[in-house]
Amino acid sequence: MPSLRRAKISALGTYVPPRLLTNADLEKMVDTTDQWITERVGIRERHIVEKGVATSDLALEAARVCLRERGAAPESVEAIIVGTVTPDMAFPSTACLLQYKLGAKGAWGFDVSAACSGFVYALQAGAQLVQTGAHDRVLVIGADVMSSIIDYTDRATCIIFGDGAGAVLLEPCTPADEAEGLGLLDFIHEVDGSGGCSLNMPAGGSLNPATHQTVDRKMHFVHQDGQAVFKYAVRKMAEASERILERNNIAGGKVRCFVPHQANRRIITATADRLKMPADRVIINIDRYGNTTAATIPLAMQTAREEGKLKKGDLCLLAAVGAGFTVGVTLLRWAC
Ligand code: UT7
Repeated sequence: MPSLRRAKISALGTYVPPRLLTNADLEKMVDTTDQWITERVGIRERHIVEKGVATSDLALEAARVCLRERGAAPESVEAIIVGTVTPDMAFPSTACLLQYKLGAKGAWGFDVSAACSGFVYALQAGAQLVQTGAHDRVLVIGADVMSSIIDYTDRATCIIFGDGAGAVLLEPCTPADEAEGLGLLDFIHEVDGSGGCSLNMPAGGSLNPATHQTVDRKMHFVHQDGQAVFKYAVRKMAEASERILERNNIAGGKVRCFVPHQANRRIITATADRLKMPADRVIINIDRYGNTTAATIPLAMQTAREEGKLKKGDLCLLAAVGAGFTVGVTLLRWAC
């Protein structure tokens, strides 16, 4: 077996659509208040697309920013992996649509369905392609247009979600990077399908193909048992994070930047408390973006960079829990 190369994130790009949906807007749409949303979830506003804008459009903008940052031509991308639960359509995959729009001639690709863990799962799928030597440049994207599957008369879900996209480029570490210990170091992934009933979109697949009845019953929208998801998320984000630090012999205090999935501010702070993570190392931007599903982690990495909390050489922990249930944590040393 040939020795594996280490993969690194060599560039990051993000995009959110310009239109804002604020708590004040939602107060006019459903029986809710800015105070309830701010206190219970931690969101003030989210970005949502105009009609006709799809996930591949957001992914395209993020991918362009990412490639520009690296000075890389679209034709140099060898594979594209998109984490999303809101593909433009059931098929072809968003990766195919994006490949064409981006002009990534010669690339192959596919979508990953892992809900809020979509980005971290796509990241590891891409990393394996780099580590084995199969590819030198893999574009990994988390993108969702959640507003396309939200019932804006259901106050329990419509206040939570937003639209957005984030892209990273994966490349092999140079010998100098390896010497500095940069790149993707370890991951733990886990799924628990018994949680499928707690968060899903019941229709539109082979079990319940679209009919007038599925539309009338609002089965093409997100359905969620909020409390079940909340409890699972707090427990598993902390457990998986503790496990990955322990098996790498890393004390929590050594992590410079903790980038959790942004589902609820209370989930993030409860997890960070359990990990004894100092508040200034915990990245929170849910107030501005809401829960953008597969896009939260790259958007939060971008916030971390903007706030000067994620610099080359920093040890960083990504953690996500999502529908499935899916759980994913990645340990890395920032390399760009
Ligand atoms: O990315 C993974 C996907 N999702 C998540 O991780 C979400 C995890 N869950 C959550 O974040 C929270 O459970 C929610 C934000 C969904 C709900 O917060 P909660 O504190 O668990 O509220 P609850 O469901 O226990 O409801 C408490 C009360 C209820 O009223 P009663 O029965 O006590 O009279 C709800 O009807 O709050 C009510 N409520 C609202 N009130 C005002 C629910 N939604 C709203 C709302 N505005 N938007």
